[in-house]
Amino acid sequence: MPVVSHNDQSAVPRVCQDIGALSAQPHLLFVDDEPVLRNLMAQRLGGNGFDVVEAETGERAMELLDQFAFDIVITDLRMPGMDGTQVIEAARERYPGIIAIVITGYGTVKDAVEAIKMGASDFIAKPFQFDELLHVLRKALEQRRLAAENAYLRSQLEERYQFGGILGRSRPMQALFQLLETVARASSTILITGETGTGKEVVAKAIHHNSPRRANRFVALNCSAIPETLLEAELFGHVRGAFTGANTTRQGRFEQAHKGTLFLDEVGTMSTALQMKLLRALQEREFERVGDNQTIKVDVRVIAATNSELARMVQDGSFREDLYYRLNVINVQLPPLRERREDIPVLAKHFLSHFSPDAPAHLSQGAMRSLMAYPWPGNVRQLENAIERAVALSGGRTEIEASDLPPELHGTPAPTATPFVEFPEDGLDLPLYLSSIERDLITRALERTRGNRNKAAELLRIKRTTLVEKLKRLGGE
Ligand SMILES: Nc1ncnc2c1ncn2[C@@H]1O[C@H](COP(=O)(O)OP(=O)(O)OP(=O)(O)O)[C@@H](O)[C@H]1O
Ligand SMILES: [Mg+2]
Repeated sequence: MPVVSHNDQSAVPRVCQDIGALSAQPHLLFVDDEPVLRNLMAQRLGGNGFDVVEAETGERAMELLDQFAFDIVITDLRMPGMDGTQVIEAARERYPGIIAIVITGYGTVKDAVEAIKMGASDFIAKPFQFDELLHVLRKALEQRRLAAENAYLRSQLEERYQFGGILGRSRPMQALFQLLETVARASSTILITGETGTGKEVVAKAIHHNSPRRANRFVALNCSAIPETLLEAELFGHVRGAFTGANTTRQGRFEQAHKGTLFLDEVGTMSTALQMKLLRALQEREFERVGDNQTIKVDVRVIAATNSELARMVQDGSFREDLYYRLNVINVQLPPLRERREDIPVLAKHFLSHFSPDAPAHLSQGAMRSLMAYPWPGNVRQLENAIERAVALSGGRTEIEASDLPPELHGTPAPTATPFVEFPEDGLDLPLYLSSIERDLITRALERTRGNRNKAAELLRIKRTTLVEKLKRLGGE
């Protein structure tokens, strides 16, 4: 017979609080073939805020599990017919997050261990006191609350560090994610600008996949990869016999992208004649296939990308001004990687697990330092290639060394980099470290303002005199 303690009041308030976080009244299934114990426990649990349903056999528990969603199942292990481990297995299969607690008789602790391996949260040995059971429940509820909280926090973090496969924790990327979220919903034409490898194509795809057009096609066309003579047919399609080699009638990319998104990559390379046709297609959403005079109407969102300076091309007359404004309704500008170095560790980690998925390697401090110091003229693509190469060269080692990185990364002078510091085992010299960051940022501010101290002080939000003082102290004078 179990001994039931009546001295459990102290436990009640906390349990109720935990329960509150879970649901107003957690649904608990109590499975035991011993009616006295079962009734008594059910009654006391009921008095402590639980909604208890009793089952006298494993079979009955199964039926109940099929009919109701329970938060908690408490089950005796040894029962005639279906035993407790089977109940737990079935309960966890139906409700993966369920709290399962096993009650064992004397000498069956080994079985309880087995039950834990199968996913029971805890066990309690007979005879037990009610407040022992309450304590075990409280612990399990607390663990579940923490797990849920962690999962939530993790999802928040992941959300913040990426948007549709675009990774970035830096301020410019955070701002970009916000902008993308808004522009994805509309249908306006977008011009993505940025140096090579900054992720223009990734951004275009992310916009499409987060837009109401996502169920339809994302069609990409690299305007620089196709000879000018064929580009028009590629964009607008052609009819049979329109030109030599046009043996069939073909749809162009505009038609293929109907109701979806057309991504025009390297749009700066288009001839002025074709620019005019594109302008009309953008303005009127209509065009003719090459060799045909039937007008085709489409509903297409256009996203264009360029790594050439279109604005400058407009000035020197090589790009139509009207087309520029048609394309540049919304401008998404991707900053070069060297201007958002905080993204380097995030991206590096992502590429490491991409290229060594089974056992993701990590970067030595030296390797990370080299990555942080390098100016990355090829931006994210170059970083991706560097990591791929390093993983291949490391031959399965768990740590990537600086020497595994491409030669151009070796010996890059660090002063222009945001210092990256992994907190060493034996600590670090904080004042020294902080002054090195300070020196670095001041140097960069002065570089950006071409040595103009007034402007540098403005960028750093400090007074000019403070800047001069700091320069003296840091040995910059
Ligand atoms: N923010 C990012 N997060 C994850 N991967 C990225 C990011 N930016 C770029 N990449 C990866 O870097 C590579 C280059 O990106 P992408 O092709 O989009 O660059 P791009 O700007 O179009 O370059 P180019 O001007 O040379 O065409 C791709 O493999 C892409 O997946
Ligand atoms: Mg590209």
